[in-house]
Amino acid sequence: LIGFFQPKRLRGRRVLITAGPTFEAIDPVRGITNHSSGKMGFAIARAAQEAGAEVTLVAGPVHLPTPRHVHRINVQSARQMHAAVLPLATVHDVFIATAAVADWRPAELADEKIKKDGTGQVPSLALVENPDILAAVAALPDRPYCVGFAAESHDLLRHATAKRLRKNVPLLVANIGPATFGQDTNALMLVDDQGHTELPQAHKLTLARALVAELARRLAP
Ligand code: CTP
Ligand code: CA
Repeated sequence: LIGFFQPKRLRGRRVLITAGPTFEAIDPVRGITNHSSGKMGFAIARAAQEAGAEVTLVAGPVHLPTPRHVHRINVQSARQMHAAVLPLATVHDVFIATAAVADWRPAELADEKIKKDGTGQVPSLALVENPDILAAVAALPDRPYCVGFAAESHDLLRHATAKRLRKNVPLLVANIGPATFGQDTNALMLVDDQGHTELPQAHKLTLARALVAELARRLAP
């Protein structure tokens, strides 16, 4: 109920969000993936919708309920996420990349389950790099306002600042502290061209609402 009474700061805005991990198949029964519960991205989708935005959520494989009135597109792999996002990016005002996209995928997908050969020999796995979805959206001539996320294990501010510049996005949000995969709380650092500010430890929905308020300020004419 509280959601319904949130100020409609994003009324008339269209917000596109990626969330969750991606899954890169090796064969029909195995794959490579990342840790990501999807909770932060889903919370942002909910908060943006409560704030009056029209929200599209492109989700990797997670078992989370779709927030009310949010348009959800399910994908598995980074390439599927890229293909879903790119055509939608320019009809949205904001793009928020919370997904933990697998950086690499197997160079080849085996049609059949790879079997042990009984001698202890292990198969070799060649990898190729996945497309960078955030960088691709940020490079569009008619790009939306782009927000990146980053989970770093050390030198948070230095890496987050470098990542923001490398991806060429106005705002990068870094998870503060040790990896909190699957937790319901988090703390965030917002890095932009002015410096950095912190959103202290709170429930992900609380942080999501604070981030939405911050975005609304940045979009205001
Ligand atoms: N991202 C993306 N597509 C990718 C990789 C990352 O859209 N193929 C987005 C993530 O959703 C996140 C941001 O880019 O918003 C930063 O992701 P991260 O994994 O921290 O950065 P990388 O550039 O992949 O660098 P590294 O993993 O080496 O730190
Ligand atoms: Ca990465």
